[in-house]
Amino acid sequence: METLILNDNTDIVTAGKIIQNGGLVAFPTETVYGLGASAYSDEAAKKIYEAKGRPSDNPLIVHVWNTEQIKDVAEDISDTAKLVIDKFMPGPITVILKKKACIPSGVTGGLDTVGVRCPINEVAREFIKSAGVPVAAPSANISGKPSPTNSQHVIDDMMGRIDAIIDSGECSVGVESTIVDMTADTPVILRPGGITYTMLKEVVPDIEIDKNILNTVSKDEVPKCPGTKYKHYSPDADVFVVEGEKCAVQAKIKELILNNKDKCVGVLFIYDAVYDDAIMLSAGKNNREYAHNLFKALREFDKLKVDVVFAEFCDDRDYGLAVKNRLYKAAGHKVIHV
Ligand code: TXA
Ligand code: MG
Repeated sequence: METLILNDNTDIVTAGKIIQNGGLVAFPTETVYGLGASAYSDEAAKKIYEAKGRPSDNPLIVHVWNTEQIKDVAEDISDTAKLVIDKFMPGPITVILKKKACIPSGVTGGLDTVGVRCPINEVAREFIKSAGVPVAAPSANISGKPSPTNSQHVIDDMMGRIDAIIDSGECSVGVESTIVDMTADTPVILRPGGITYTMLKEVVPDIEIDKNILNTVSKDEVPKCPGTKYKHYSPDADVFVVEGEKCAVQAKIKELILNNKDKCVGVLFIYDAVYDDAIMLSAGKNNREYAHNLFKALREFDKLKVDVVFAEFCDDRDYGLAVKNRLYKAAGHKVIHV
């Protein structure tokens, strides 16, 4: 299949038409790039699963161009859900609501709920508006790979597999949206992201964090967020998290580099770049920057054919929880506490 590369200014109408005709378009959002199709079409949803190589029981998020459009796809929206929508949308958050019948079960992985998200990225909103329908979209990566945070990542994964890619530079947040289940009596954060627990607690004082956020889900357990049971964000390199205070982390990583002399070693650093014999990439000065850089760095290490990555980490407050969640998954939960 030929994949068109579309301009984020002049080609938005073309992108919208492709969606109307049942095709797939990758588009930028403030979190990561999405792989969009009409949310009203079972057929189009099937194409998404095929292009990503994703299991079809993992539901897609439905994207709307403004908060008015939410009522087209979801019903029984509680007052608390309305508060969250008013406060944080458009923005990097997804709310799980009861789905309307117009959303086919192929989009929601057979669930009677739907994840709804209204991005704040202007190109995303123009695109969804021009499609004339809500847009179902997962992240635009091959299933299991780190989510794409710039258009080159999407080109690397999706060229020849989808109809078009809107080329629109870098995503500002860099990790996927916060997911909040608003269908339970007590709202639960199923995935941490750009809207933090602290921010949500101000509006929903009793909000909880799902225990699976930092754990592996056992094979027999049915997770509330089906995506959490799959291998995720995993680069080709073997990733280890080294967590703790600066001196201890640096001493440990120096020792690990010595013990891995036969391998090409990468270090994702937050403190100072003090290592010899390793390829070093900066995670940034704080967790907001870490979130922005993480997926890009994991993909970069793979391009550089790094065998093993040691990622420094220390602080899981606020944005840090989203970083920790992605980092632990990328590492397959191989965490060294020092
Ligand atoms: O920031 C984002 O959310 C990006 C951009 C493109 O919007 N999208 C994204 O989609 O990350 P995806 O498919 O990679 O991750 C969606 C997650 C999956 O883990 C899925 O299981 C969960 O959301 N999910 C979707 N609908 C759900 C539902 N009805 N109930 C529970 N979990 C749901
Ligand atoms: Mg994804």
